[in-house]
Amino acid sequence: MSRARKTANDLRSARWFAPDDLRSFGHRSRMMQLGYSEEDFRNKPIIGVLNTWSELNSCHSHFRERVQDVKRGVAQAGGFGVEMPALSVDESFTKPTSMLYRNLLAIETEEMIRSHPLDGVVLMGGCDKTTPGLVMGALSAGVPMIYLPAGPMLRGNFAGKFLGSGSDAWKYWDERRAGNISDEEWLGIQGGIARSAGTCMTMGTASTMTAIADAMGLTLPGASSIPAVDSNHQRMGADCGRRIVEMVWEELTPDKIVTQATCRNAAVVAMATGCSTNAVVHLIAMARRAGVDLTLDEFDALGRVTPLIANVRPAGKDYLMEDFYYAGGLRALMKQLADRLDLSVMTVTGRTMGENIESAKVYNDDVIRPLSNPVYHEGSLAVLRGNLCPDGAVIKPAACDPRFYLHEGPALVFDSYPEMKAAIDDENLDVTPDHVLVLRNAGPQGGPGFPEWGMLPIPKALIKKGYRDMLRISDARMSGTSYGACVLHVAPESYVGGPLALLRTGDLVRLDLPNRRLDMLVAEDELARRRALWTAPPARYERGYGYMFARHVTQADQGCDFDFLKTDFGRTAGEPDI
Ligand code: FES
Ligand code: MG
Repeated sequence: MSRARKTANDLRSARWFAPDDLRSFGHRSRMMQLGYSEEDFRNKPIIGVLNTWSELNSCHSHFRERVQDVKRGVAQAGGFGVEMPALSVDESFTKPTSMLYRNLLAIETEEMIRSHPLDGVVLMGGCDKTTPGLVMGALSAGVPMIYLPAGPMLRGNFAGKFLGSGSDAWKYWDERRAGNISDEEWLGIQGGIARSAGTCMTMGTASTMTAIADAMGLTLPGASSIPAVDSNHQRMGADCGRRIVEMVWEELTPDKIVTQATCRNAAVVAMATGCSTNAVVHLIAMARRAGVDLTLDEFDALGRVTPLIANVRPAGKDYLMEDFYYAGGLRALMKQLADRLDLSVMTVTGRTMGENIESAKVYNDDVIRPLSNPVYHEGSLAVLRGNLCPDGAVIKPAACDPRFYLHEGPALVFDSYPEMKAAIDDENLDVTPDHVLVLRNAGPQGGPGFPEWGMLPIPKALIKKGYRDMLRISDARMSGTSYGACVLHVAPESYVGGPLALLRTGDLVRLDLPNRRLDMLVAEDELARRRALWTAPPARYERGYGYMFARHVTQADQGCDFDFLKTDFGRTAGEPDI
């Protein structure tokens, strides 16, 4: 499509470099200090390559080289690429939880773009929180942007078996606790489960979120499916560099891409992939940065009518992301869903989503199933309400044993993670398979930071008897690679006085999945009596970032963004005026 093109004088960076005044002299002289001539950077789109590389982010270890591919593409297209490090927010090492820092990355991204002479950005991320963090910040900054997903790692491998990130760690850990795995085997699994650069290669949070960015039209078509160490990934990097320069001239800003229809498409795709439960929180937060009000109820409505067609673990049974790529990748999955998507939406290519996926094909219909033969007839997530979760909770029906769809059992309540851990390791714990394990004070403020503790371990006493699933409820999240009958994101969280705070050990809890209900069977007057006795727990933080986090983070159903970052919170800072 043809659209008005910018001229060099209109470039945002020209405000830094063009005027014949003292400040611009300073900017130009500092570029020369960096070894560049005016020919290098004047009258060219300056592209920030925001790189979340760190020596402690195992998923982004290829980014140090990949950034060179991006810059090669930028230069070829007549732009000037500058690498800028951004907070890495790795999933594996960050304590208490990486989620505490998603919003910090979003703030950093927004402010780094706003304060520097950048005309466009390539965002390099992939490990769970980096995708929403980078995208949220860039949406608020508003310059043309393209997302470069890190790509999944190769399949895990041990003793002739494929291993899936997360999922197999939990599975084999249960076997180890049951005494079925030797030290030598355990070491083999440890070395085989993550064996190349790239993000977790199950449909965990990383693959879910990069698929969502792809489905929103924020990546080059299908980029999210390319394994990190495949040469196609390097070429995709250079393509991102070439394309972002054109996007600057075309003034293809993200507000022309991210609309209500785009966010809805992304939710449909997420449901069809067997997405991580984290998708709900992050997609709501990203949509809100674009002024789109996506709700939990919309997710539930889409979940009821969207079949799960990506046969990728953990919701799918057999395959991993590498297989998904060979089967045609996300473009092929979206082609299957074409009738359920709005294909007229604009994307970073300057073409519509429909044009981007037109030539896509499925090469293995056991991996990417036809709608007539889904992995699961409904979508990946269901949203519950009831007297335990008036503002909602989520569950992943496809990943839990169907015998829990209608379940009633006595609660076994823990107020903290250490308390829960000590109990579940106690072989004499008084617990039956019908018990409902409950962990509270694990939400956005209580965790603090909304940790992934929601797949509570099955008590040792039951593991030894062969049980591998039971109903679990928390105001925490769980890893996208987790599975089981886990009700998560209970809102409002107990730490701020949500009704989960009133539940006691022995109270009966009822899950009614077909009717989307979660209730404690406790009389109203008894709940009122307990509420009167409830006192708020002490503050988690008295200084620093955590202090700000606790005061401004919103609840799970609102996406856990900071209240002051919402699009409609107040006047936007706009461009720096000096
Ligand atoms: Fe980085 Fe899973 S730990 S994507
Ligand atoms: Mg994860």
